[in-house]
Amino acid sequence: MTFDVARIRADFPILGREVNGHPLAYLDSGATSQKPVQVLDAVRAHNERHNANVSRSVHTLGTEATMAYEGARAKVAAFINAGTPDEIVFTKNSTEAINLVAYSLGQHLKLGPGDEIVISEMEHHSNIVPWQLLCERTGATLRWFGITDEGRLDESGLEELVNERTRLVALVHVSNVLGTINDVSRIAARARQVGALVLLDSSQAVPHLPVDVRELGVDFIAFTGHKMLAPTGIGVLWGRFELLAKMPPFLGGGSMIETVTMGGTTYAAPPARFEAGTPPIAEAVGLGAAVDYLTALGMAEVHQHEQDITAYALKALADVPGVRVVGPLTPEGRGGTVSFAVDGVHPHDVGQILDAQGVQVRVGHHCAKPTCVRFGVPALTRASFYLYTTTEEVDALVRGLDQVKKVFG
Ligand code: ALA
Repeated sequence: MTFDVARIRADFPILGREVNGHPLAYLDSGATSQKPVQVLDAVRAHNERHNANVSRSVHTLGTEATMAYEGARAKVAAFINAGTPDEIVFTKNSTEAINLVAYSLGQHLKLGPGDEIVISEMEHHSNIVPWQLLCERTGATLRWFGITDEGRLDESGLEELVNERTRLVALVHVSNVLGTINDVSRIAARARQVGALVLLDSSQAVPHLPVDVRELGVDFIAFTGHKMLAPTGIGVLWGRFELLAKMPPFLGGGSMIETVTMGGTTYAAPPARFEAGTPPIAEAVGLGAAVDYLTALGMAEVHQHEQDITAYALKALADVPGVRVVGPLTPEGRGGTVSFAVDGVHPHDVGQILDAQGVQVRVGHHCAKPTCVRFGVPALTRASFYLYTTTEEVDALVRGLDQVKKVFG
């Protein structure tokens, strides 16, 4: 089956709108994706027909809502080939999932001075700050991989960096700035050798390429619904069950307990242990619908389409004078996120002129300041693609950049 972008686009009502008198060219899916009618309808139908709280009521609506919520968990588990749905913890977003591990695993490992956590310079702030906080709390040391000039993870110091003091390696799976896809197999093997655990921030990976957690050989991955066609407010932590089962709760409250007395509390098994309070129920239903949508298309096909668009964009941008792409310059081993600098023009000005042409890109430090610093820029312009992106939208970007050059001479 060919990848029919026109048919896919017909499922996304927003893609038909105009912005500033131009057809919308939505090139900011790395920040958040658009949502197809299948997802919008699923959320609406849930609220119209089945709304009730989950895991609390024996009444019909409560049972239906619980089945829908747990059904979404099972879909997500199958999507990433988790061992069991109990390995899927619903959170608010990736950031919360990573903070959950930093807090809870940090307690479980009884981290202290002499222990090391390894991250990289390529991380989103959400995979830096929780570990800095953990190190401040425990006295553990934070260390990191650098980035090569080409925009790849610099693994040259692997043996020294990941050593017998390392307790956890937390890495970005696909960079939200450089687009680099990190093959973490060597790092995961080294981590296993020294008894360290591995977490992947897969926020920019799960929406875009096939992810099989059992093949990855890691212990945790975090990702978020709104970047994969689902609503905001729902994220996922996947963890190996035997690890989750050893970890103490992150947030306390209803639904995460086994029993409570005034003298103390015992906790439910995962995933309930980590889902205190009323969860994002309709959002989980939306995520389940998004998983159905992506599964029907096939993630290998989604990835291939994005690689085709990326190859087209890299070639087109190479021909624009004064534009410098930061990150791998060929589509191999990279996702559909292309960040660039325009000589002598601040990204905010670039973004404003592009917006006037209907082209929506993200500008700034992309919540990854150390990555920008590594490449000597305070900020970048970023175009990020998804399954609905067309070459015409890339052409609109290039025309917009011509306009930038005209305005700023
Ligand atoms: N993490 C999202 C981005 O890269 C918000 O734009």
